[in-house]
Amino acid sequence: MTDISSILQGGYHHPLSRTWQGTTQLTKSMLIFPLFITDNPDEETPISSLPNQSRRGLNKLVPYLTPLVAKGLKSVILFGVPLAPSAKDSCGTSANDPTGPVISAIKLLKAEFPELFIICDVCLCEYTDHGHCGILRPDGTLENEASVKRIAEVAVSYAKAGAHCVAPSDMMDGRIKGIKTGLIEAGLAHKVMLMSYAAKFAGPWYGPFREAAGSAPAFGDRRCYQLPSNARGLARRAITRDLNEGADVIMVKPAANFLDIISDAKQVSPDTPIAAYHVSGEYAMLHAAANAGVFELRKAVEDVMTAILRAGATIIVTYFAPEILEWLDE
Ligand code: PBG
Ligand code: ZN
Repeated sequence: MTDISSILQGGYHHPLSRTWQGTTQLTKSMLIFPLFITDNPDEETPISSLPNQSRRGLNKLVPYLTPLVAKGLKSVILFGVPLAPSAKDSCGTSANDPTGPVISAIKLLKAEFPELFIICDVCLCEYTDHGHCGILRPDGTLENEASVKRIAEVAVSYAKAGAHCVAPSDMMDGRIKGIKTGLIEAGLAHKVMLMSYAAKFAGPWYGPFREAAGSAPAFGDRRCYQLPSNARGLARRAITRDLNEGADVIMVKPAANFLDIISDAKQVSPDTPIAAYHVSGEYAMLHAAANAGVFELRKAVEDVMTAILRAGATIIVTYFAPEILEWLDE
């Protein structure tokens, strides 16, 4: 006869009892949806590398977002995509152009959707002519101090324009402190959240994003500032450092292949919200596999999201937000 202690199936036979086995359940308020905003107001161009995603100009944003907000979308993260030929230079001047796409979008979205939580990705790569995330020295290596100063300037501009949260993805050393200090000096530190892309790994997963945002580096790669994917200890140090510099949220990116890092972030700081960015390559890969008949898209997406939560994330940045909002209503 089977021993009583070996019987587990009774504990998860019913759909409801199955949900009770989880520690965290996916909810609408956990989702952050990325948006690509161009400087051409009437543009709405599908991004070929990212199924169902488009680059949009200001005039196309509100009609697109209205039904999503009605379905329960609570937060977006904005990425500027300057298309004008004059928009790029060596220090990313247009990143905080007061009439540029990001600052205009913050104001528009705040006015149209007062409940929507607006996050701005802060980086220079979309705005520099060389496509790197910081300012370069003449020999092509990064000039950290000048980069931090510029990144902090851009973050404070977004905060002044009304962003609820700034999220630096550049990976310069000391940028969290630079931004936090800038927010304090601007009298905004009490109401603007600082989300650090603390554990952001270099690798093959950002390709579709770089096509979408036109931000591929003109030479070299990002391995001098994004973490090597074998670097579990270094990621823990980056997380600890960014918390000490004033980060309010720690992000791990990419998500699905970095569940150990998410779990480490949770362990390093159990009292801090942990965000996971399910990035463009992960999104495109699931679509491609589903199209090839490997699995049903929804089932795979739900399983990946569950894994991210199980690892310890409490916030998920995902291009699947529109679909998940619908699924959660069923
Ligand atoms: C900009 C930035 C990138 C992503 C978010 N912010 C690209 C990069 O670092 O190369 C990637 C997001 C995605 O792939 O979905 N620094
Ligand atoms: Zn960048």
